[in-house]
Amino acid sequence: MFSHRRYLMCRPTYFAVEYAINPWMDPTAPYDTELAVRQWTALRQVYTDLGHTVDEIDPIPGLPDMVFAANGATVVDGTVLAVQFLNPERADEGPAYANWFRQTGFDVVEAKAVNEGEGDILLAGDLLLAGTGFRTSHAAHLQAQEALRRPVVSLQLVDPSFYHLDTALCVLDATTVAYLPDAFTPGSQAVLRRLFPNAILAGADDAAVLGLNAVSDGRNVVLPIQAGNFAQRLADRGFMPIGVDMSELRKAGGGPKCCTLEIRTGS
Ligand code: ARG
Repeated sequence: MFSHRRYLMCRPTYFAVEYAINPWMDPTAPYDTELAVRQWTALRQVYTDLGHTVDEIDPIPGLPDMVFAANGATVVDGTVLAVQFLNPERADEGPAYANWFRQTGFDVVEAKAVNEGEGDILLAGDLLLAGTGFRTSHAAHLQAQEALRRPVVSLQLVDPSFYHLDTALCVLDATTVAYLPDAFTPGSQAVLRRLFPNAILAGADDAAVLGLNAVSDGRNVVLPIQAGNFAQRLADRGFMPIGVDMSELRKAGGGPKCCTLEIRTGS
């Protein structure tokens, strides 16, 4: 069921691919920052046209991945769990996002372990689904459960191309998710089957274009336009797929969801 959302986004003014911290990134390949800004602006427009609220955090020169706002925090019931990045290249983004939340009037809990925010910690109904294996540590899952007061289900990621949970799994509504089974260990696949027997299972073609990196408001699902099969599966299940082209940001390993941090204020 559709519900109004509040999102935080960061304009990719200083977007670049200068280092490689995931297999999508090739610092020797060309990229187009202006095109990235246009594609990002179109994504922002989709959200506001759907009636959602978009807040913006100022981008900081020298932090080319700061556009990936999903990694900036995890926000549930108005509590902000701050982040701690694994890679030094992104370390300064953590305090920048935490400060934005403090200045906006939120209580911020400092991260005690490597935690890459909503990249790896996704709210699905009453559960927090938490990925580990590449970035966010298991210790951060325990802290998320304490700080955000929701049961955490830890899921182990195994494919370096799907290094954050939000590249391998998308929460569509309180009881429905879509995921790429091969991105998880056999044990975590079994947990997902048990929790979400009606899940949409994505295939390699959709995964190859980061199709699962999608944002749902319970009805509309904003996804990479190249993920045609996934869009069809969503439509078959009564969701409204909305394709956006994020070709430039994909060169850094990101899609629409990576650019979008949900600010959940209600309880
Ligand atoms: N280049 C960034 C990194 O590797 C991309 C982050 C994508 N964000 C996400 N929520 N999956 O950290």
